[in-house]
Amino acid sequence: MYVRSFADANGDGIGDLAGIRSRLPHLKHLGVDLVWLTPFFPSPGFDHGYDVADYCDVDTAHGTLADFDDLVTEAYRLGLRVMIDLVPNHTSSRHRWFQAALADPTGPYRAYYHWHDPAADGGPPNNWVGHFGGPAWTLDQVSGQYYLHLFLPEQPDLNWTNPAVADEFDAILRFWCERGVDGFRVDVAHGLAKDPWLRDNPVLQPLTAGMDPIAAFAAFEHRYDLDQNPNVAIFRRWRRVVDPYRAVLLGETGPHDPVRLARYHDEGRALHLTFYLRPAWMTWQPMQLRDGLRGVQSLSPHSVAWTIENHDTDRAATRFGGGDTGRRRALAVTTFMFGLGGLPFLFQGQELGNENGLVAAGRLADPISTRNPGATSGRDGSRTAMAWDDTAGNGFTTGPVAWLEAAPRDLADTVAGQIEDPASWLNAYRRLIKVRRQHRDLVDAQARWLDTDNGLLLALQRTSVLVACNLDGRPADLTLPSGNWALVFSSAPDSAATIGTDLEATVTVPAETSLILVAG
Ligand code: GLC
Ligand code: CA
Repeated sequence: MYVRSFADANGDGIGDLAGIRSRLPHLKHLGVDLVWLTPFFPSPGFDHGYDVADYCDVDTAHGTLADFDDLVTEAYRLGLRVMIDLVPNHTSSRHRWFQAALADPTGPYRAYYHWHDPAADGGPPNNWVGHFGGPAWTLDQVSGQYYLHLFLPEQPDLNWTNPAVADEFDAILRFWCERGVDGFRVDVAHGLAKDPWLRDNPVLQPLTAGMDPIAAFAAFEHRYDLDQNPNVAIFRRWRRVVDPYRAVLLGETGPHDPVRLARYHDEGRALHLTFYLRPAWMTWQPMQLRDGLRGVQSLSPHSVAWTIENHDTDRAATRFGGGDTGRRRALAVTTFMFGLGGLPFLFQGQELGNENGLVAAGRLADPISTRNPGATSGRDGSRTAMAWDDTAGNGFTTGPVAWLEAAPRDLADTVAGQIEDPASWLNAYRRLIKVRRQHRDLVDAQARWLDTDNGLLLALQRTSVLVACNLDGRPADLTLPSGNWALVFSSAPDSAATIGTDLEATVTVPAETSLILVAG
């Protein structure tokens, strides 16, 4: 969940830990096992919490450490696990380490960050750019050196070759493990280590003025700033810290290539789980989706966290075509992901089939858009408040206005509007989660890809369970392995699948639909 936008208990328009605690019954009812909370630590908020000024406290906007303890206690009472967000690639520029580094260029905190003399022409030391636009280097006028930031200038990158930085993070991990968290989602896990020679990245495309920062970032091959091999050693070290607590490490890992992604798992010695994020960024591209899902599942069956949307991407229903078409495709892909092993994630509001929230151009809050006016609408569309009901503020806040002002959602797009309706998206997601709980072979059993005649029809059998996904715009027939198959879930209940009863049984999978079948 995106903490700022889930539930606001005190009416100031900003989501808080007390609000989350009061809404845990929704998660319990939905059937989820685990909640990942985005950062709630003290932060000046230039990147809405991903610029951390103190790793071991709670921002007053979100509550107190006591509120956190209460939230964890209540989550456990309900049988939910809690994962928090760790941001080790960079701190806030207001963090005391960076303040000390600025104040004393010869002091010990200077080497917590990457400082470098200007290039011969006085410009930045190399050609790296930040994810949010502009060069990845900012000049400190006082010392005459540049510091590195792969995100905003207010998010200086930590120097992970410095053993003192590694020691600090061991202590931070222990602090939260002692408080009972079940794991950490590791922000920008593929970014921590940098090329020791800070070589220029190869240029794929020339930059143009006013370019969308995401396109500008993609104009380089990130050979030297991201996905460096020494990242893996950092996570092996963290395992020694978290394993005694049985806490889980889940990386926000950038690589799309299955082999590069699997490195972070390192056969169980590094990150327990890695996000496979390509489907969360794609528009509706059935062939690319098919290749990606097959490739990653085949290589790393149990170490992948699957997702089609999060707080950084447009909502899947929007990207996949909008309206009921987009919603239907989103549920079809999610259903299939529930059969791929590993750990599937939903993003708050996805269970309602929500499309992007509508934020007026003058109200945009994401630094990607506010710092690059007109270039991109940024990430606000997925960050608007959770739609609980159709009262003012959609039940998110009792105050006059949410921190991110957006058009109100209709009753049909809210929890209150869907909870009693058996045909709602909410109840479809709820049934899907229940099926995963009931049929454990769907999660654990040995997987085997079935041959299908249709390139856009994917089918995976796990002994007694079979999951089929038809990414095609037309129905497709699947020949079933021998057995007595019964349909336990269809992502499109309006067009029930038919199972033939011939010697060679076949099932017709409707267009853009996934089915889960169980052998009796
Ligand atoms: C990750 C977060 C994103 C944040 C960035 C910088 O990608 O998901 O929201 O802006 O890291 O911390
Ligand atoms: Ca609040």
